[in-house]
Amino acid sequence: MYFIGGIKMESSKISKGANSIQISGIRKFYNKVIKVQGAISLTLGQPDFPVPDKVKRAMVRAIEDNKTVYTSNAGIDELRNEISKYLKRFNINYSKDEICITAGGTEGILDIFQALLNKGDKVLVPDPSFPAYASCTKLLEGEVITYGLYGSEFSIDFNELENKIKNEKPKFMVLSYPSNPTGTVISKEDNEKLHKIIKDNDIIAVTDEMYSALCYEDDYYSVSQYEDIREKVIVVSGFSKTFSMTGLRIGYVCAESSFMSSILKVHQYTTTCAPSISQYGALEGLKNCDEDVQYMKNEFKKRRDYVYKRLKDMGFEVRLPKGAFYIFPDISRFGMTSEQFCEKLLNEAKVAIVPGSAFGEKGEGFARISYAYSKKELEECMNRIEKWVEVQNNL
Ligand SMILES: Cc1ncc(COP(=O)(O)O)c(C=O)c1O
Repeated sequence: MYFIGGIKMESSKISKGANSIQISGIRKFYNKVIKVQGAISLTLGQPDFPVPDKVKRAMVRAIEDNKTVYTSNAGIDELRNEISKYLKRFNINYSKDEICITAGGTEGILDIFQALLNKGDKVLVPDPSFPAYASCTKLLEGEVITYGLYGSEFSIDFNELENKIKNEKPKFMVLSYPSNPTGTVISKEDNEKLHKIIKDNDIIAVTDEMYSALCYEDDYYSVSQYEDIREKVIVVSGFSKTFSMTGLRIGYVCAESSFMSSILKVHQYTTTCAPSISQYGALEGLKNCDEDVQYMKNEFKKRRDYVYKRLKDMGFEVRLPKGAFYIFPDISRFGMTSEQFCEKLLNEAKVAIVPGSAFGEKGEGFARISYAYSKKELEECMNRIEKWVEVQNNL
């Protein structure tokens, strides 16, 4: 039973899809922090840098020039052209007409799922992964099938993946690199294996590359780089993290025309168009803010190295992330579920991090720390965790 505006609602009045999902575990934990006095949160994927000045000024100019009206559904041509150029840096080729600007990556994900999924269709989702993939599937009454990410590198077991594709016959599979929550990037070898699987099987790949600008390796790999499977691949990405503009809501979807025409229909009835002012901001970001992005990336890399070293020194089993701004230590030695671990850490050490179980069954035994926070906050949190771990070790 639900209460909306004081009115009692039977759950039968709510769609099966909406009844089957919950508020994300990330937000659930973030909301708990507010209630614990003195707690510091390392829960959110929100960079602590302000949006670059040039982006701010471009948005002010856009307001003054009255660019506050609907744009075309797919978004302004200049931005789509600029994204097309930008993607070439990653060896990814989409023309302006194969790109649709969305209200954040989140809208992009739901648009793709709505365009592809019928009730009962199966979706192959990585475990652990960003919770939206499983939730969007359930919302549309699809069935979630997971493939595990294993070992210290959170790697795909290609036998498992191929068996699931052959036996479960999912409509599409989700790939998500650099990964939230593990920080893994796809290797050249694994990208080649994925290419072969997609080519040889009746499967579409939806690849979420939200953190592509935050890859700390020299080379970037993605299944969207292969021309011979481009009719089987859809890319979703965006600028929330790249330009630290999470609240401005600019994402994008790339797909060849047979997918794009349907994605555009869904997008039209969901959002009409992404916020016009923010589109001009993202355009400026792409044209003139490479230095700001590089600065943020260097800072994240320093913070990553710092948090990794501190955790290692405390005795955590943890892998150095190669992308995004999350680190995913193993907490299983503490003999608690990840939820219990994070509750206890929050109440006793006053540090909030996210239980690995919020990202799927295989996330159990881990916890996600976001290092998109200031060095000062990270230092304080690491000191608090260190003291707390010492107490746990002596229990
Ligand atoms: C992997 C991944 N994809 C998509 C999104 C959604 O991004 P946006 O804020 O642009 O909707 C996030 C946000 O954290 C994410 O981590």
